[in-house]
Amino acid sequence: MKRLRLGVNIDHVATIRNARGGLHPDPVRAAMVAAESGADGLTIHLREDRRHITDDDLTRLAAATALPINLEMAATDEMLGIALAARPHAACIVPERRAERTTEGGLDAAGLHNTLAPMVRRLGANGSRVSLFIAPDSDQIEAAARLGVPVIELHTGPYAHAEGEAEVAAELARLAEAARLAASLGLEVHAGHGLTYENVAPVAALPELAELNIGHFLIGEAVFVGLAQAIARMRALMDAARG
Ligand code: PXP
Repeated sequence: MKRLRLGVNIDHVATIRNARGGLHPDPVRAAMVAAESGADGLTIHLREDRRHITDDDLTRLAAATALPINLEMAATDEMLGIALAARPHAACIVPERRAERTTEGGLDAAGLHNTLAPMVRRLGANGSRVSLFIAPDSDQIEAAARLGVPVIELHTGPYAHAEGEAEVAAELARLAEAARLAASLGLEVHAGHGLTYENVAPVAALPELAELNIGHFLIGEAVFVGLAQAIARMRALMDAARG
């Protein structure tokens, strides 16, 4: 099976820094460690309220690292302008609500077709691989395909938060079916949200997946074992699951 890429989301390094202001801990340093520890890319979410990564971080990261940057962005004119100027390797359009603690649901690719279509076109023409962060639902996947994006990212939050064997199995089956459908429509399939050492293997084993994006757990675990070790262990678990 093809090697699964690991995108490390370093937003929460910035969240910790922002708790005190100043420069420490610096997400750019985290990016350097990620590059040396088995990460294939960096994921950052420039939120409207700049609660973690800032515009300056985006500029510094782009200058400092050779890793491809996956910029998560809301479907707003402001973010479109920033993404067009920054030209990240990938631009992942996510839903964003100000009061949420993290990205809570998937993007409504079907309902937002007319808003998304010009953004997808402009970002793609500007050289970024456009992705949509969506629930593992056939309607959303078909809507993403109609929008002409090359990539989707399946929201693994409901799987990660499922309780009990039956619910976990049902959510995993939804992801598996969604990944198959997306691949059959020619989409590259990524997944992420809420993944940990404990729950990553069954997702990593889905053969259609090309990339996982993982953040909160890795940064939390880094408090105890260091970022390099946390990333290396996740990388090893992903590789083992691919067999
Ligand atoms: N993918 C997307 C689109 C996200 O919004 C997030 C959270 O910012 C992640 C992946 C990573 O999720 P987590 O931090 O729970 O690992």
